[in-house]
Amino acid sequence: MNPEDFQPDEQLLLHAVALLTGSQMAEPSQRLPMSLPEVGIGADAALSAMFDDVLGRSRDLGAPGFFAHMDPPTPPITWAMHLWTASRNQNLLHPDTAPRARELERLAVDWIAPWFGMSGGHMTPGSTVANLTAIWAARESGCRVVVSGTGAHLSIRKAAHLLGMEHRVIDDWSVADDLTNAVAVITAGTTSSGEIESLDAASDARWRHVDAAWSGPLRLSDRYRHLLDGIEDADSVAMSAHKWLFQPKESAFVLFADHEAAHKLISVDGAYLAVPNVGILGSHGAVAVPLLAMLLAYGREGVAGMIDRTMALIDELAELVDAHDDLESRSAPSSGVLCWRHKGVSVDDIKRHLPDDVLVSSTVIDGEPWLRSVAANPNADPAKVVAGVLQAAAR
Ligand SMILES: Cc1ncc(COP(=O)(O)O)c(C=O)c1O
Repeated sequence: MNPEDFQPDEQLLLHAVALLTGSQMAEPSQRLPMSLPEVGIGADAALSAMFDDVLGRSRDLGAPGFFAHMDPPTPPITWAMHLWTASRNQNLLHPDTAPRARELERLAVDWIAPWFGMSGGHMTPGSTVANLTAIWAARESGCRVVVSGTGAHLSIRKAAHLLGMEHRVIDDWSVADDLTNAVAVITAGTTSSGEIESLDAASDARWRHVDAAWSGPLRLSDRYRHLLDGIEDADSVAMSAHKWLFQPKESAFVLFADHEAAHKLISVDGAYLAVPNVGILGSHGAVAVPLLAMLLAYGREGVAGMIDRTMALIDELAELVDAHDDLESRSAPSSGVLCWRHKGVSVDDIKRHLPDDVLVSSTVIDGEPWLRSVAANPNADPAKVVAGVLQAAAR
């Protein structure tokens, strides 16, 4: 490498964009070497060499037949911002290396936190880390036990394990034991079925954390906001922007009712740092930037409209399923998740025989296997997905 290799190379970047949009085809290229190459092939040839693995063989999360996981396609404004942030490589750990980027993250938190009734917080690479961070703060405030419902995400079990806390799982919040030394984790949008647990549960818990990793963005929707009423009474909230806020990974929030007090509980000073290191991450990047840009481009209204559209698509899927004699759904869709299946062919067999351009996910609830569709893709075509499942069943 030469020092000039750190300067913007417009031709290379335009070539990357042309390959991305398909206006230029990649040169045929060898497979990636199985061990670290001794001599480089140059940046332009590397673009072509990476094309197939990175773009060609990736899953198109925005394809009409993709109605599966909590992972959305992302709008190009976020791609542009990723390019910019990679070029600047700001490190939010230290104000010297991120004079403005730190403020931009605070701005993103200021834009998002009030919708949840929270005073502030910070960004994390996902809700796994957001949950861990919130439960860490709860432990520092005196909680000894983590109590969750049966639908809690596995990250809650991981967090309890990492923090050396007991984890109790309960069926019914209304008959929970004394919670005065517990952090109660209430899931708003369970991973398997999208169920929003009662947000006023566990009122006697020392700390109430709401895991709204999936359904949190409904808070922005005029139509669906009420589904999360009560979230504003939590002590902390986790929400993944890389799920229903259409952000590139890794983008999420941990929010606190009193973020100043909570941040104090989870801050560590270091001699080489100008400001205390808050939370779990050390070095971390400017993940707020694509989110700010998207919200600026489309506004709360525009993004909420897109969430509403995906909710309508899952309703459409539920209607098609319910209207077909051979299909059944477990219940009406809940926060954009529908569990459904073919009455005569197993979930495994359906999954095995799905056409290449159709994908649904699967889950097991109370020992019963279900196909699962999640409203993360605004371009999903419910009729195509149903046809794909019926085609799989006929094989
Ligand atoms: C309810 C819930 N909580 C937490 C997580 C973990 O979030 P992330 O994948 O952003 O780490 C998920 C992921 O699906 C989830 O569904």
